[in-house]
Amino acid sequence: MMDGLRLDGRTAVVTGGAGAIGAAVCRDLVSLGARVVVADVDEPAAAATAAALNAARPTPGAGAGDGAEGGPGERAGTRSGDGAGTRSGDGAGTRSGDGAGMRPGDGPDAGSGARATHLAVDLADPASIEEFCARVGPVDILVHNAGISIVEPFVTGDPAGWDLMWRVNLRAPMLLTKLLLPGMTERGWGRLVFVSSDGARAGSGGEGAYAATKAGLFGLAKTLAREAARANVTSNVVCPGPTDTPMLRRIDAEKPGLVDKIARGIPLRRLGTPEDVAGLVAYLCTDRAAYVTGQTLSVSGGVTMQ
Ligand SMILES: NC(=O)c1ccc[n+]([C@@H]2O[C@H](COP(=O)([O-])OP(=O)(O)OC[C@H]3O[C@@H](n4cnc5c(N)ncnc54)[C@H](O)[C@@H]3O)[C@@H](O)[C@H]2O)c1
Repeated sequence: MMDGLRLDGRTAVVTGGAGAIGAAVCRDLVSLGARVVVADVDEPAAAATAAALNAARPTPGAGAGDGAEGGPGERAGTRSGDGAGTRSGDGAGTRSGDGAGMRPGDGPDAGSGARATHLAVDLADPASIEEFCARVGPVDILVHNAGISIVEPFVTGDPAGWDLMWRVNLRAPMLLTKLLLPGMTERGWGRLVFVSSDGARAGSGGEGAYAATKAGLFGLAKTLAREAARANVTSNVVCPGPTDTPMLRRIDAEKPGLVDKIARGIPLRRLGTPEDVAGLVAYLCTDRAAYVTGQTLSVSGGVTMQ
């Protein structure tokens, strides 16, 4: 393998890690040797994602960086929030319970070389985010992937939905970064990756409020790239285009034929896959991408070229 692509000894948090793109990101990071915390409001799905990652991984202890780094095996619960995701229709909506996952290296997986754990967090709820950050331990890589989209014409849109999208899509990455970036700067290495959307770069009918929250990530990521550069922390944005996920299939069910029409308009003539997006996210987390910061990159088959 090319040098500088391994992530052994690094701990990554992937928000929305139980979702379509998030799970693909978790898989790639684990395959590069990182320990991954699957952070999601849907705790059963997060637990299943972590279990699948551990079941699929190579022989325990085979890779470098298998030593447990966590402290005592603490149960990490989060308070459920105020209805995050209940209106999103995108897979969110399961409140976190009190039996969330363990710290990386803790609990039943400790010593078995487990690469993935899960920890419930309701990103719409600042108290849940604080509790998550207090329990997760040192984090080297923070992938802000969770997102919700409420599709509706802007003028008839419900501001309550706008508020939910603001809290999950933009405020949560701000709060998480505020709490976890200091540890990265102290240790002198870190990666921030924000999953936005081509809809925010190019505009997308019915997604005005969503695009507004996702576009906020551009300014945030660039500012953090400047502020954290001296500490060897990079900050970049990845913008998926139309990606073949349950989120998109639901739209197709409501408007049959729409997805095929979208695919025909893509220069590469197909929808993206979660793996297409994950590949760029994972690369940005490696040392090979050490000199890439403050960038906004699309994974959209050529829909957006800039
Ligand atoms: N699917 C696409 O075509 C597409 C296109 C552009 C951008 N994106 C963006 O990519 C990211 C991943 O999308 P996806 O298609 O995998 O979506 P998904 O619905 O499959 O996954 C989203 C995940 O976020 C979690 N989540 C939602 N609300 C949460 C909350 N309050 N707290 C914690 N977790 C929460 C969900 O439980 C889910 O696991 C999103 O940010 C989305 O906006 C997707």
